[in-house]
Amino acid sequence: MALPNLWKLYNLRSSPYFQATLRQDSEATPLSLFVGRHEERQRLLTAIGGSRSSRQAVAGRPGIGKTTLVQAVKADALAAGYWTSAEIIPITADLTSEELIGQLLAGAYDSVLASSAQASGPAMEAAQQLVRSMRLRSGGFTVSALGFGAGGTSTQAISTPPGALLLDGPRVLRDLLAFALEQGACGVVLHLNNLENLAEADAARAADLLRSIRDQALLLDGLHLIVVGTTDAVRTVVQSHTQVRSVFSDPVVLDPLEPTEVHQLLQARYHALQLDPSQLVHPPVQAEVIDALHGLFHGDLRGLLKALEEGISALLGLTGNGDYAGPIGLADLTQVLSRRYGLELQDQLGATLWQRLAAWAARDAQAVLTQAELVALWGIKQPSVSQTLQQLIGAGAVDVLPRKGGEPLQYLLAGATRLALG
Ligand SMILES: Nc1ncnc2c1ncn2[C@@H]1O[C@H](COP(=O)(O)OP(=O)(O)OP(=O)(O)O)[C@@H](O)[C@H]1O
Ligand SMILES: [Mg+2]
Repeated sequence: MALPNLWKLYNLRSSPYFQATLRQDSEATPLSLFVGRHEERQRLLTAIGGSRSSRQAVAGRPGIGKTTLVQAVKADALAAGYWTSAEIIPITADLTSEELIGQLLAGAYDSVLASSAQASGPAMEAAQQLVRSMRLRSGGFTVSALGFGAGGTSTQAISTPPGALLLDGPRVLRDLLAFALEQGACGVVLHLNNLENLAEADAARAADLLRSIRDQALLLDGLHLIVVGTTDAVRTVVQSHTQVRSVFSDPVVLDPLEPTEVHQLLQARYHALQLDPSQLVHPPVQAEVIDALHGLFHGDLRGLLKALEEGISALLGLTGNGDYAGPIGLADLTQVLSRRYGLELQDQLGATLWQRLAAWAARDAQAVLTQAELVALWGIKQPSVSQTLQQLIGAGAVDVLPRKGGEPLQYLLAGATRLALG
């Protein structure tokens, strides 16, 4: 049985506060909803157009809109004659350099197929064989929607030793890129994501990994690479080795969207999800709620959208399916979110960690603190502070600011925590 549509009350087809990344190939979350970021978008596109191969990085705090920006840039590039797909290539620290080249190859292969479904020839066959064997081995090596489940099976690929095949990766990738260029592509744009999931040691390993494939893969003619991650991860991965830094452009670091742009973002969603076109959409919340949450979440759009979705759903659940009674105000929404996030965090963290958060908020919920200051605040030793912070960051209760030179790291309460303790 389908759930009743809570959002009908507002003349909306479904929740306008979904947190998924916008993508070109999606009807539910289309790129037509994209707002702002004109300068960054242009800068990324210009670098792609400016040379036969390019390497760029997009950095920024969690949830600020990094992945969505790169999806928009890929759509721009596609319109300008580049081949690319909406797929994202994950980079994890346990990959070998052969496997990473395999990932790039799979991404390039998907991009060729997305732009030229009939593409064939020796370069495509070699790529297909390698990609297929990798995906069979790992049960889906990349997050590919194309995959191979629907197509044929290849017994040959299963019986071919993948290790030996992978050694051919650089050559197969080079030939595939050359093939794409021959077929009229201006180049192939690939999107390496998820640097944000790398812990510091893993980021260092990822940096070594990129260095190890630099000449064989990163510099290939026709390849345009965009890597995405949090500011510190990007800095470690792209800037710690001269050999890698020298072939990357300066990272594009994203600032939070302006408040007016966040309003535009939501207006675009309300409009796209309008249920009855003969009637207006009733705004679910007052404008000041949006501004307050945007500030509280420091530009983390995912956190903002999630808070709106969960808070409004909870309030609608409480009041039942009545009539539209005007947009929800800040006091009502923060009350329900405070209870909800409070229970969630206590449940997830346990009493001791919760009390440490409470002590922090009691001092000043906006405070940006160092480990040394937390030693004093919590009255525990530095190693315990460090361990506590790791747990709190892992749970999303605390954020860490990007490193500034040699200064000690600075920590602040996440938006959800400030709501919980507000
Ligand atoms: N410029 C934009 N225009 C419209 N919507 C956007 C824009 N940027 C981000 N969003 C929306 O905000 C949410 C978060 O965006 P996105 O997933 O791109 O952030 P992110 O920085 O990649 O997050 P993470 O750090 O978790 O990877 C998504 O729902 C996305 O649709
Ligand atoms: Mg992302």
